[in-house]
Amino acid sequence: MVESMFATENTIFSAALILRQGGIVAFPTETVYGLGASIQKPQAVARVFEVKRRPRFDPLIVHIARAKDLHLVAWSNDLAKRLADVFWPGPLTLVLLKKEPVPDIVTAGLPTVAVRVPDNDIALRLIDLAGYPVAAPSANLFGCISPTTASHVEENMGRAVDIILDGGPCRIGLESTILAIDREDQPTLLRHGGIPVQEIEKIIGPVAVTKSRDTVVRAPGMLPRHYAPRTPILLLKGTQLMPIEMDRRIGLLALTRPEKNFGYRTVEVLSQAGDLREASANLFAAMHRLDATGLDLIHCQPVPESGIGTAIMDRLRRAAFSGHGKQFDSLSNRKGEQNK
Ligand code: TXA
Ligand code: MG
Repeated sequence: MVESMFATENTIFSAALILRQGGIVAFPTETVYGLGASIQKPQAVARVFEVKRRPRFDPLIVHIARAKDLHLVAWSNDLAKRLADVFWPGPLTLVLLKKEPVPDIVTAGLPTVAVRVPDNDIALRLIDLAGYPVAAPSANLFGCISPTTASHVEENMGRAVDIILDGGPCRIGLESTILAIDREDQPTLLRHGGIPVQEIEKIIGPVAVTKSRDTVVRAPGMLPRHYAPRTPILLLKGTQLMPIEMDRRIGLLALTRPEKNFGYRTVEVLSQAGDLREASANLFAAMHRLDATGLDLIHCQPVPESGIGTAIMDRLRRAAFSGHGKQFDSLSNRKGEQNK
């Protein structure tokens, strides 16, 4: 089991050396922790897929240290320049036509590549010292909750990685927004994330938003059930709470503290003040904690769908999705499902 190491100039240097030699490194970004391999080392990239148990058809994001390195991996265009100017470093991933140095294993054979500059000094220093762009998915097992602390990575895949750099909790806490601009006349949102689509539209005008059904191939991160704890989740229809059956171990994920307990075994409050940015930063850690409590069920209160609230609701819906084309609205349904 690899224990995480506090990120210092020395440990970042060691991690960069591991990347140069074809190893894999878990590192912090402002969104979630990533599991990185140098794009110069296709075998290391293959190991990232194995460790994550991620299907090979699901491409990785390439992380670069500065916007001017974009030309190394992708064909830039006017939209990319304008967006990079405003949002990089930051939680915006751009999908563009790929260039030769990016091996097919990174892009799952697609003609496009997803690229971003993370807004985290440890990540930027690591990529810089590695001397090559770093392909990195989130450092969690495929379909599970993304890690927002180094200990989440340790618990999830500590045995399988070469080094985990600990940079503290992630500031944003939700993955990057993914925007396809390989066709300049048709910018398309592939995943809600750290930057609300309205912010992007202020810079480049209207953006098409794909429905997840259409994007299973374009961005498998849009798979209906994703970011899911092991404990079943019920997304409540409104914010109003009702007393629950005491014989079941039910936990609550709430935006603000409820006025009373209603019989919940555990309550996780995302933001005392109801601040959506604070809530997104706390979301995955709260889900991890609830999941570790041995509950029968987790109730989630919906949050307002404005700004980053859209991305929070997107993650909650995916976590709650039953996989049978509908959400459960009654506890008995869910119980039946569990007993199968
Ligand atoms: O915030 C983030 O984006 C984090 C940090 C580590 O940077 N990374 C992350 O990676 O969330 P991952 O692998 O968990 O999600 C990447 C998503 C996947 O849904 C993948 O399908 C999509 O990006 N993707 C990658 N390359 C693509 C491409 N060429 N076209 C469309 N989607 C792509
Ligand atoms: Mg992921």
